[in-house]
Amino acid sequence: MQTVTREMRGNIALITVDNPPVNALSHSVREGLLNQMNELAGDDSCKAIVIACAGRTFIAGADIREFGQAPKEPGLIEVVNRIEAMDKPVVAAIHGTALGGGLEVALSCHYRIAVPSAKVGLPEVKLGILPGAGGTQRLPRIAGAKNALDAIISGRHISAREALAWGVLDELVEDDLVGAALAFAEGAIAKGVRRTGEIAIDKSEASPEMFAAFRKSVARQTRGYFAPERCIQCVEAAVELPLEAGLKRERELFMECFANPQARALQHMFFAERQISRIPGIGKDTPRREIRKVGILGAGTMGGGIAMNFANAGIPVTILEVQQEALDRGLKVVRGNYERSAAKGKFPMEKVDDLMGLFTPTLSYDDLSDCDLIIEAVFEKMEIKKEVFTKLDAVAKPGVILASNTSYLDIDAIAAVTKRPADVLGLHFFSPANVMRLLEIVRAEKTADDVLATCVDLAKTIKKVGVVAGVCHGFIGNRMLSPYGREAALCVIEGAKPEEVDAALYNFGMPMGPMTMSDMAGLDIGYFNRQGVGRENYETKAYDWMDKLVEAGRKGLKVGAGVYAYEAGDRTPKPDPEVMKIIEAESAAVGIARKPKSADEIVERCMMALINEGAKILGEGKAYRASDIDVVYVNGYGYPPYRGGPMHYADSLGLKQVYETILRFQDVHGPRWWQPAPLLKELAEAGKSFADFDRDNANKE
Ligand code: 3HC
Ligand code: NAI
Repeated sequence: MQTVTREMRGNIALITVDNPPVNALSHSVREGLLNQMNELAGDDSCKAIVIACAGRTFIAGADIREFGQAPKEPGLIEVVNRIEAMDKPVVAAIHGTALGGGLEVALSCHYRIAVPSAKVGLPEVKLGILPGAGGTQRLPRIAGAKNALDAIISGRHISAREALAWGVLDELVEDDLVGAALAFAEGAIAKGVRRTGEIAIDKSEASPEMFAAFRKSVARQTRGYFAPERCIQCVEAAVELPLEAGLKRERELFMECFANPQARALQHMFFAERQISRIPGIGKDTPRREIRKVGILGAGTMGGGIAMNFANAGIPVTILEVQQEALDRGLKVVRGNYERSAAKGKFPMEKVDDLMGLFTPTLSYDDLSDCDLIIEAVFEKMEIKKEVFTKLDAVAKPGVILASNTSYLDIDAIAAVTKRPADVLGLHFFSPANVMRLLEIVRAEKTADDVLATCVDLAKTIKKVGVVAGVCHGFIGNRMLSPYGREAALCVIEGAKPEEVDAALYNFGMPMGPMTMSDMAGLDIGYFNRQGVGRENYETKAYDWMDKLVEAGRKGLKVGAGVYAYEAGDRTPKPDPEVMKIIEAESAAVGIARKPKSADEIVERCMMALINEGAKILGEGKAYRASDIDVVYVNGYGYPPYRGGPMHYADSLGLKQVYETILRFQDVHGPRWWQPAPLLKELAEAGKSFADFDRDNANKE
């Protein structure tokens, strides 16, 4: 297929790239651009060149799907160098997004114009690599080292206006981009070429102190990532070295990133997030229901945050509580959240009232009768959920989608109390619901296809990452969290200090360790759950020491004492000798001779538990893909994206090794909690990976 075409418009050549969906720089595009440049270089009738794109966007970058394949000449570096070396002006005409290799092509052009809605950026860092076709050398020459660092390390999309201010764009045009680009090119004939690579870099702001301060400022957000430091080194090279040497350095560092497993993990996440909305039996032609108004039951921790998501998308919400005080309290929290966002400059303070105007508080179920979707977020008790759904069934109009935000309860049982189980599903948000990106969409046994399809689309409308899960205790995320927490707590009773468990998992890349997380959530929550479950149903050794803490009044951060001690007004966890005494006494009480644990052992225990549960979920069909599980864990639990989620991490270790480790744990710790998932055994014995499992399933569809 010809993806690059040429048309002469007078003495100007208009080159059009047409490689749907996003004009990625696939082999045919690179070859096409190179051939056009070579032909036009020798064509005296051509005085200037415009590079534009068909479809929804300018070139959105290298073709990520080609990353796993053997490189095919010409490479992008050859293409951009050829464009820059042209001795007739080349103008990039940008609409949509000029990202990664797309911006590198644009930077190699001599001039760039764009429509105001266009965005530019170098998002390579998000894929575990760095701009490898001159972006790290050319952007600092145009925009300055500081702006270049900002763009390359954040990978963010930069608005056309900001890009204009940086000098990345020469002009913004309201409409007829191609016409304007041709006119611009006409004017550029007299000006001649202006090669980005020949611009002298402004060294005044690029001092070693500036780089040191920048490294410090991004240290938290880049913790554990391999590529960001290499990106910074590239910009340093741009400041210190002539273009050619800088490009060579960029190449070396690019290859280091490319060879690092983090690159594969982050690229896996890129595609995984784009797979989630592919659901067996649901297609473009599945009907959708219109959602113009949403009802929320419960204005507590979750209800208020859930409601904010809809208000943010301009969808009015009616929010119901049992008592006026609870309603007032809930809406006060919402207003406070909006006011804080406005104070941070996210939107003008006047907008707070506009947003609050989308909320209708009520104590009466009758006010929910005109809602198209009603989400219940009341107490986590089956009797209350059943009572609420029975009432909803009586007042809601036909065709309304009824959803529960339950964390663990059986949606099929909730649906069964209504006369319309096909309209019922789970919409499980994560706390804080207005911030966390994950939404588990729980497909119950009788959920209708159009209900599911509507909610999958709705997740995008409210800017959530919506992953479909099946009904089971805790769905995907919380079900996996349970064995992870158990192993962490067992490590403590067997000999590790709580802070050692936390440090091991933090250093693995988790945002915080499980002990700190328990303190934050409140140790009493688990305590009360366990009271209702019965001692025969959980690992008492793991949790008895935590229960002792609760009984001693140590309920966690909220009371200033839990697994750790906290000083007033300070959330920093401090190891507490009193807690160690309780732990040591508990170890002795259950007959455990405490032995030190290495960080590797702690990580291995917790990760194997996570992976094995994930494999069970997958084998039972409660998740459609291993990659969906990865999306859940990265977006809902802060699993390090650079490890690609627990299932990709398992693949990177090799499933044979994972399976054998679990068998070893079975020998050492007993079979009660260590039963390899049947799917894991099957894949390990067949020499396959979770990715193979996903691919095989996709091929069957
Ligand atoms: N390569 C291959 N396929 C790509 C792609 C790319 N660079 N970018 C997007 N796609 C595919 C997606 O997988 C998706 O395919 P599907 O429909 O089969 O699932 C389709 O294009 C549409 O993508 P989105 O659903 O993401 O569409 P949106 O309109 O929401 O977003 C976008 C468009 C902003 C361009 C977004 O796709 C995006 O951010 N793409 C990645 C951009 C990027 O990271 N570029 C840098 C690449 S690395 C590079 O250039 C290296 C160089 O320095 C050498
Ligand atoms: P919460 O206790 O903060 O809020 C519950 C609210 O529901 C209270 O304001 C209460 O007055 C109200 N309520 C109780 N019965 C009601 C009824 N019959 N009608 C209307 N309102 C009623 O609880 P939270 O944390 O918001 O949890 C709500 C649900 O969300 C639970 O099912 C929980 O499992 C789930 N969930 C909680 C998460 C969390 O981190 N807190 C995360 C994800 C889900």
